[in-house]
Amino acid sequence: MGGLLTSIAVVAGVGVVLALLLEAAGSLFADYGDVSVDINSGSRDLKVPGGNKLLATLREEKIFIPSACGGRGSCGECRVRVLDGGGPLLPTEAPLLTPEQRKDRMRISCQLKVRGDLKIEIPEELFLINSWTARLARKTRLNYDTVELRLELPEGETIKFKPGQYIQLKTARYGKVKEEVFRAYSISSSSRDNRTVEIIVRLVPDGIATTWVHDYLEEGTGVEISGPYGEFYLRESQNEIFFIAGGSGLAPVKSILHQIQEEKIERKATFFFGALDLRDLFHVETMREFEKNIPGFTYVPALSNPSEETQKSWKGEYGLVTEVVARRAGKVIKDGEAYLCGSPGMIDACVKSLTGMGMPEERIYYDKFV
Ligand SMILES: Cc1cc2nc3c(=O)[nH]c(=O)nc-3n(C[C@H](O)[C@H](O)[C@H](O)COP(=O)(O)OP(=O)(O)OC[C@H]3O[C@@H](n4cnc5c(N)ncnc54)[C@H](O)[C@@H]3O)c2cc1C
Ligand code: FES
Repeated sequence: MGGLLTSIAVVAGVGVVLALLLEAAGSLFADYGDVSVDINSGSRDLKVPGGNKLLATLREEKIFIPSACGGRGSCGECRVRVLDGGGPLLPTEAPLLTPEQRKDRMRISCQLKVRGDLKIEIPEELFLINSWTARLARKTRLNYDTVELRLELPEGETIKFKPGQYIQLKTARYGKVKEEVFRAYSISSSSRDNRTVEIIVRLVPDGIATTWVHDYLEEGTGVEISGPYGEFYLRESQNEIFFIAGGSGLAPVKSILHQIQEEKIERKATFFFGALDLRDLFHVETMREFEKNIPGFTYVPALSNPSEETQKSWKGEYGLVTEVVARRAGKVIKDGEAYLCGSPGMIDACVKSLTGMGMPEERIYYDKFV
């Protein structure tokens, strides 16, 4: 059995490598000329140069498909229904599509290259997504590895988003980095301010976009953004709310808390924020202000790896955020709904723990920061 699985894995691996080699050869030698992309049965008919990925081709035409992983082929969110053209499914697309989606002719647009005429179908609401060159009005350091950016839209422009949604940011070339990449960042500010968006960016060591933001991006610079995207937003119900986040996962929670305060939503809510040590906390004062202004809201920061120094003064919770949630809310959590934001590992651990405590999976909403 083990031998069979190894053989299957080897064959699949060889398939992916061959596909990548063919792709590279195609990029170097092929000239596809102009092709037509028909969207939603003639609603739009584009004449575009062939040879680029479908996601990038559409982006050039200001049609923005959600792409949480920025085209790296890992999130599967850039699905587009291809009714005609496109050739066979690629090995890089297959793992990101369910059998039903494949039957429904869904394709992964960041992998599919436009080599000939295409007929595609996309949800009409995607035409509402816009792009701007925003001005970095303010860059604020929140702690040793996290900054907040305040991005101002061009004069007269506005953005309409649901608190919890994200924007895509395009980086510029810098230092030795010759590629421009797209990355997702959740909006942390209030949706009532439709002229600016704030985002919170945590440095990933050697990360292309976060190094650019932290070390190269200066106040006053123009930053290309598009949005809004995503399905992470507060659902209408009377259920108690449990927010659980780590690191920059605080961003969409903060935006939703602005909404709860501004709309005077009367639901009990607790925000469990997992951090290693005191130095990983930020926006603590903002959360304490929310506690004063939102009746029924509690902020619970939890430290999982505090230094001896921290332990002398820290009066809050200790332990992994999942343990703290279980300790503080284990008895009531099954009747509530949860909003999780952070690394894939943290989210998976939380979903396991929450369902283990009886919360149905349909009441758990999350954005994995892939
Ligand atoms: C819906 C959504 C919302 C997001 N919102 C935010 C947000 O509000 N704030 C924010 O800071 N980030 C957010 N992210 C993550 C963000 O999009 C980038 O992936 C992240 O900033 C890293 O980008 P980079 O180009 O610097 O790293 P890359 O150059 O892409 O990565 C460099 C290396 O680090 C690894 N890596 C990437 N991310 C992490 C990580 N988080 N931890 C450890 N290793 C990593 C990669 O696998 C790679 O090996 C969000 C992601 C999604 C999908
Ligand atoms: S953008 Fe993530 S898989 Fe295509």
